[in-house]
Amino acid sequence: MAAPVVDAEYLRQVDRARRALRALIASKGCAPIMLRLAWHDAGTYDVNTRTGGANGSIRYEEEYTHGSNAGLKIAIDLLEPIKAKHPKITYADLHQLAGVVAVEVTGGPTVEFIPGRRDSSVCPREGRLPDAKKGAPHLRDIFYRMGLTDKDIVALSGGHSLGKAHPERSGFDGAWTRDPLKFDNSYFLELLKGESEGLLKLPTDKALLDDPEFRRYVELYAKDEDVFFKDYAESHKKLSELGFTPR
Ligand code: HEM
Repeated sequence: MAAPVVDAEYLRQVDRARRALRALIASKGCAPIMLRLAWHDAGTYDVNTRTGGANGSIRYEEEYTHGSNAGLKIAIDLLEPIKAKHPKITYADLHQLAGVVAVEVTGGPTVEFIPGRRDSSVCPREGRLPDAKKGAPHLRDIFYRMGLTDKDIVALSGGHSLGKAHPERSGFDGAWTRDPLKFDNSYFLELLKGESEGLLKLPTDKALLDDPEFRRYVELYAKDEDVFFKDYAESHKKLSELGFTPR
């Protein structure tokens, strides 16, 4: 059997960092931006060239200044004191742990977290994350490049159960659900309801309704939160391990 990737002291620091993240997220109400940080670090993965992925490279100015990462410097800075107190933990692990804890403490499913990601100082070129103004073919281009599936696309889009868009960051405005600090299946319920006063739907969100293969999952997740949570936890784990093979 291969040797464990991390030692006992590393695991102790992960446990402590997990508690520190719960406290930080509770006191700052920053679960949404932590989830978005984890997703944007991991979501640059290219399964063919094996570049990008959950490797902490988003901490570099070269990457966090990409247009799609607007605002994420806030999350990077919030994590810095936790990194300083738990220096063995890589940025790559810390970002993914923050995403997992964000989902857990807002009422979402438990996503299994395996430590051992390595940090990279190589930033991917701009343009690997999805463009919210596009449709289903674009979503497939981007997520298939990561090695993910139609089911992953819809389940992970349920991450918009948390948080909101900020005009000064993305040009979009508003939350997807009535309670953007609660992780549940309301994103899918709102999507099926159609336009609702004050709630946001990106073109990429609406694309999930128009495409029959995507829509199947939207309807399933709206009807059955347990199925959504199970599928979301699996897809989030896959996302969090892009470019990383746990041993
Ligand atoms: C926010 C696009 C998938 C989690 C946003 C924003 C946009 C966006 C435009 C607003 C950013 C801002 O103005 O602050 C997209 C597109 C996706 C996608 C086009 C393609 C499917 C995901 C996935 C997750 C996720 C897979 C996580 C699993 C979030 C969260 C926020 C957010 C939590 C709120 C951030 C906050 O409140 O600060 N997304 N997203 N998104 N996204 Fe996505």
